[in-house]
Amino acid sequence: MHTTPIGKFISGIPKAELHLHIEGTFEPELMFEIARRNNKKIKYNSVEEVRDAYRFNNLQEFLDIYYAGANVLIEEQDFYDLTFAYLKKIHEQNVIHTEIFFDPQTHTDRGVEFATVIKGIRRALEEAEKQLGISSKLIMSFLRHLDEKSAIKTLHQALPFKEWITAVGLDSSEVGNPPSKFQQVFKKAQQEGFLSVAHAGEEGPPEYILEALNLLKVVRIDHGNRCLENEDLVNELAKRQIALTLCPLSNLELKVIQELHHHPLNKMIGKGLLVTINSDDPAYFGGYMNENYYGIAKALNLSKEDICQLAKNSFQASFLDEEIKKQMIEKVDKYYRKNK
Ligand code: ADE
Ligand code: ZN
Repeated sequence: MHTTPIGKFISGIPKAELHLHIEGTFEPELMFEIARRNNKKIKYNSVEEVRDAYRFNNLQEFLDIYYAGANVLIEEQDFYDLTFAYLKKIHEQNVIHTEIFFDPQTHTDRGVEFATVIKGIRRALEEAEKQLGISSKLIMSFLRHLDEKSAIKTLHQALPFKEWITAVGLDSSEVGNPPSKFQQVFKKAQQEGFLSVAHAGEEGPPEYILEALNLLKVVRIDHGNRCLENEDLVNELAKRQIALTLCPLSNLELKVIQELHHHPLNKMIGKGLLVTINSDDPAYFGGYMNENYYGIAKALNLSKEDICQLAKNSFQASFLDEEIKKQMIEKVDKYYRKNK
């Protein structure tokens, strides 16, 4: 795909990633290396065996493997290496800005300090800004399968590092864990000045998207596929230009859709929704940003103009300052004029 005209166009276009779990970038090779130096066991014998295990029928089957993988991360250097490997990868793909989720509870519940996690990630982000020119924001995500008390404890642990965190989010097992369960912690987070986002409508019903908007006051919805089941909701999302951070390969791998050409992207665009393309957990779902763009472009027969709009949307929906957004969108336009 990357050698076709549209593939080449996708590879080169400047873009932003807005839905990426840093724990989901853990490639098996690095997992083995870190496990070895930390004297941690992995239940697979080889990288191939690990990759072979990545076959999922739903979100929960993926999450079980994803949390097991994260278990080998112990030292600050591990979080640095994990993050820097991702940043190097997206640099090759012309991603120039990224907004990264991290799941502190996945680590603090195993006895790893909050400070260890965030300092490793932050050091990699600073290095990448200097060495690779990639800008970034961090989003601290609460695990929705745990209780709100645990999320509040996590928020308190984050306060000394407030300057490094732009927003709070909500991820993990969606069905049975509605946004309404986390109203208090999101309210406290907003009082502390954090923006908020939430995964909603990936497997869960459109009501969860409504709750995220109305009770958690989120400014973006992660996934949001199932909004299409509620016309009033679609109209509200379109009117307020609340961005949806879509993840096509993730949707395919977790059986949210059966085939890529069933993906609702075009339908959403037709309804005036602000949609973006993202990779979610690229080490697990078979592709980073460009592979997600290639996949969806091929499946839905997208044009260069469509790709250009998606790249512009990625900056428009980002947490960058308005002036920087404008400059980045201008970069996309310039690329389009040169390569159309
Ligand atoms: N954590 C990592 N990836 C996720 C996803 N796609 N949905 C919910 N929680 C997640
Ligand atoms: Zn996600």
